[in-house]
Amino acid sequence: MTWPAVEAYLERSTGIIIPIGSTEQHGPTGAIGTDAICAEAVAKGIGEQEGAIVGPTINVGMALHHLDFPGSISLRPTTLIAVVRDYVFSLAKHGFDRFFFVNGHGGNMATLKAAFQEIYGELSYHPAVPQGDSLRCYLANWFMSPQAYKLAKEKFGDAEGGHATPSEVSLTQFVYPETVKRQAMDPEVGPRGHRIYSAADFRAHYPDGRMGSDPNLASPELGKLFYEVAVEDLRESYRKFINMPVESTAEEAEASLTTSNGSKVLAQ
Ligand code: NI
Repeated sequence: MTWPAVEAYLERSTGIIIPIGSTEQHGPTGAIGTDAICAEAVAKGIGEQEGAIVGPTINVGMALHHLDFPGSISLRPTTLIAVVRDYVFSLAKHGFDRFFFVNGHGGNMATLKAAFQEIYGELSYHPAVPQGDSLRCYLANWFMSPQAYKLAKEKFGDAEGGHATPSEVSLTQFVYPETVKRQAMDPEVGPRGHRIYSAADFRAHYPDGRMGSDPNLASPELGKLFYEVAVEDLRESYRKFINMPVESTAEEAEASLTTSNGSKVLAQ
């Protein structure tokens, strides 16, 4: 886009969608860019259907526990907070006040929540952002959208696992069919349930990078279905978010962290 186009957009909407992913190993066959690719695809789908701007993808997230696998890159939580803060403050200066983060990585969730609090706190005394009190951020995890979650259960059951899941691998294969890759994997390797500590500890418990998943179940055809249901769910959330009165958006943003299933805390 050009700056005049953004200026014209601001006449009719102050909402923006920002995809955020991660650059981290996704098992022996999954693309390292999986989380960013999925978030960006879903964000663009929502943007197209809602006529909303999609900002530049935050491709590197909080993935410290994946750093024992070559190619993974991570920001520290404090760095990611600073990046999110700077994105929001830059755009807030121009009048944006509804920031809809489409997230593709479970490991970003706690840090994003902290970043939002950092932003709300700083906005309360920031002279350059007059609309500071009405600014809201929303965390939309595509893989936790009610329909995407249900579809993963139906298609994969327990083989969905918690990382390098067939649902995210499918969605990536839908966007980039050239990433389709299958190989024999030991079903006993990397069962879910171990807590996440250091990168070395992670690799010791999940030697091929998977967490209880079977990515061989993934396909571009299924990826198309995940794309469609996630876009359908999240465009509804986006529409509610940008139209909601200031008093209720905070509650709604909070709810997005735990809808679909409170017990589902995925690493993705
Ligand atoms: Ni992932």
